Amino acid sequence: MKDAAPKTIYLKDYTPFGFTVESVHLTFDLAPRATRVIAKIEFAPNPERTDKTFFLHGEELKLKWAKIDGTEVSPVVTDDGLRCDVPDGPFTWECEVEISPETNTALEGLYMSNGMYCTQCEAEGFRKITYYPDRPDVMSTFTVRIEGDEPVKLSNGNPTGSGDGWAEWHDPWPKPAYLFALVAGNLVNHPDSFTTMSGKDVELNIWVRPGDEHKCAFGMEALKKSMRWDEEVYGREYDLDIFNIVAVDDFNMGAMENKGLNVFNSSCVLASPETSTDDNFERIEAIIAHEYFHNWTGNRITCRDWFQLCLKEGLTVFRDAQFTADMRGEPVKRIHDVIDLRARQFPEDQGPLSHPVRPESFQEINNFYTATVYEKGAEVIGMLKSLVGDEAYYKALDLYFDRQDGQACTIEDWLKVFEDVTGRDLSQFKLWYSQSGTPRVSVADDWSDGTYTLTFKQHTPPTPGQEVKDPKVIPIAVGLLNPNGDEIVPTRMLEMTEAEQSFTFDGLASKPTPSILRGFSAPVVLERVVSREEQAFLLAHDTDPFNRWEANRTLTRNCLVNMITDDAEPDDAWLTGLEKVVRDDTLDPDYRQLMLSGPTQSELAQVLFEQGVTPDPDKIWDASERLRQHIANKWQGWLKDLADQMVVDAPYSPDAEQTGKRALSGALLSLISRLDGGAAAQERFDTADNMTLQLSALTHLIRAGRGDAALEAFYTQWRNDRLVMDKWFGIQVGMADPGVAVDVATALSQHEDFDWKNPNRFRAVMGGLAMNHAGFHRKDGAGYAFLADWLIRLDDKNPQTTARMCSVFQTWKRYDANRQALIREQLERIKAKPKLSRDTDEMVTRILG
Ligand code: ARG
Ligand code: ZN
Repeated sequence: MKDAAPKTIYLKDYTPFGFTVESVHLTFDLAPRATRVIAKIEFAPNPERTDKTFFLHGEELKLKWAKIDGTEVSPVVTDDGLRCDVPDGPFTWECEVEISPETNTALEGLYMSNGMYCTQCEAEGFRKITYYPDRPDVMSTFTVRIEGDEPVKLSNGNPTGSGDGWAEWHDPWPKPAYLFALVAGNLVNHPDSFTTMSGKDVELNIWVRPGDEHKCAFGMEALKKSMRWDEEVYGREYDLDIFNIVAVDDFNMGAMENKGLNVFNSSCVLASPETSTDDNFERIEAIIAHEYFHNWTGNRITCRDWFQLCLKEGLTVFRDAQFTADMRGEPVKRIHDVIDLRARQFPEDQGPLSHPVRPESFQEINNFYTATVYEKGAEVIGMLKSLVGDEAYYKALDLYFDRQDGQACTIEDWLKVFEDVTGRDLSQFKLWYSQSGTPRVSVADDWSDGTYTLTFKQHTPPTPGQEVKDPKVIPIAVGLLNPNGDEIVPTRMLEMTEAEQSFTFDGLASKPTPSILRGFSAPVVLERVVSREEQAFLLAHDTDPFNRWEANRTLTRNCLVNMITDDAEPDDAWLTGLEKVVRDDTLDPDYRQLMLSGPTQSELAQVLFEQGVTPDPDKIWDASERLRQHIANKWQGWLKDLADQMVVDAPYSPDAEQTGKRALSGALLSLISRLDGGAAAQERFDTADNMTLQLSALTHLIRAGRGDAALEAFYTQWRNDRLVMDKWFGIQVGMADPGVAVDVATALSQHEDFDWKNPNRFRAVMGGLAMNHAGFHRKDGAGYAFLADWLIRLDDKNPQTTARMCSVFQTWKRYDANRQALIREQLERIKAKPKLSRDTDEMVTRILG
């Protein structure tokens, strides 16, 4: 809990720990309220030290005794750790502490979930298990003995022995404490095996609670694909005899890459066609890959300190995106990622929570597991790869794995391998890591005598703590089309380094149409005033699938903005162009579905705000609804035919092909429901044999105002499946009419199955409300008050999940003075809560600005 003045930690203050850890032996004697942890740790003086203080982190530990070289000692114990006098040379530290997993509701350290023991140590949870230098640059081998009646007892590394009531594990790879894991409980496994590229056999297991066995097969296939892919693409082989994955119901995040023992939020690993949607399958495949890829980018090579978090997260997100693109198709994956970046990272980077990809200070590191560190961090790597080219990229990566293996590294180490391989100076590029904010790039063009000139200007608005920005290196992929729509200049990567810079294209027969920022080659806002005709031309002809989609996105957005600000009619010329694409059966259904998906209401609010218009959530909602209805009316002649063509006539598979068809058919059904009052959706709901179809039908029924019976049937069918019930909770709030969304959320928060201490369930309801833009921003502030009540309540139990949820308030300055005042009132109420956690305090303080 927060002390009087929260302490800020700075990157510039980094100093190495005064000691190295040669080995760690841990013995756990498990008991729900009194687990005993005995540690035996070999320390030696660190030759690089500047400070000899022997301080070990420790929180919420009951110290029983401590010894140095076998002699009992009396350390000075404080709230956050202990200090002790130690010998000058190497020594053995031993101690016993008692902890209480059962009452650990923060889900950090060792805790219990449905009677199962499990751990989450990243970033700083190990200090709740025993006294230790809990920092990523202290790496050691771990030997773990677990004593208890639980039939299954797991830890990192390889199993070295087990017997009645005990099991031992040894991890030969030195690792920081944040990668430690322990799991014990009544678990069943889904076993398999994998032979690595050098012929070593690896035992694979997915461990779940009895009853979930039938939801493991897909995750296992995803794991094997990931292992093969990392060998083929990055030359990286797995390095232990066994790889275990465990599904845990109570988990703050998605998953965790503990060495050889990945722990997953059950929502990110368990899947079956009946209970999981296509989106769930795709996400599970990506997260399994992500955690597996961490074995090299994160575990073998880790971070020197938490400021370097993007070193492992940005790179691993980049790698999992490459993997998904290979498995499911490049353009569609890219479009999904850009939608996500704009929905989550852009608002963060353009609001009070803006921070650099490598932050320079924090109070609570858990608040920096952000879209900026992860997703913008991955974008930065994508840009680096575009700038140096594929060949140099993989050479640099080989050098990175070679040079840095077994070390705790910095962004400087990372960039150095690229400099060494290419001979380039990356000091300007490095600004992407240190400067926050989304750059805005504007473009002007000029045409004369066969020469076409594009002049770009870049500008990054000020962000908290950073008033002035320098020009960055921005790779801008450009292609040119002639008036017939043929590509006359294929994609060229322009490298912008100045505040203003021109690029010329010679020898052209006629003035071309440019396609700029193809593939979204940099995470910037492109400010270019383009006529409707030119956007329509790009929608019809652009050879870059991303930009073709982008042209449509811009047209959709402009149409909605005009409807909102000028009460304009929907833009029928655009819809004629869109119709051609949606009905073009040479295009993949998933791509056509993406064309139909308009900007979110929150994105529209941002666009209006940027244009100097105060967004009115109710008007945004009305315009979005009006547009959908208009499209449905206009296309009623052929919607059903196309939907029929998208029916999948084969056993369910979550592959890209079937997924695309179901996605398009879901989008069409949403339009059809506006014409038939939900009759077709009802039929689909009644006959659906997989969750994708069932849930999308349920969504349309709720939207059509006839969801009650279906919701009840759904509840009866699935009440015993937690993951499905999360959907049931979330969808009711998310899909509710804005006028009643808060009431629906309130009623659900009183439901007997609303287990608010379970992060998935809490997020289902609160996140559902936040997604219901006009519902959450109800004029009277009821949405804000409802959420604040719950955040105040959860903070005592689970600071991490509370703090994370606070970010739904980050866009508050977009709205009118009334709404701002109402939000401010709630933020201040949260801030005034007695014993507010350090996590939530930091978030609320930053959001208030
Ligand atoms: N390293 C994990 C992952 O990205 C996330 C762990 C986040 N933990 C936290 N306490 N914020 O795969
Ligand atoms: Zn990660």
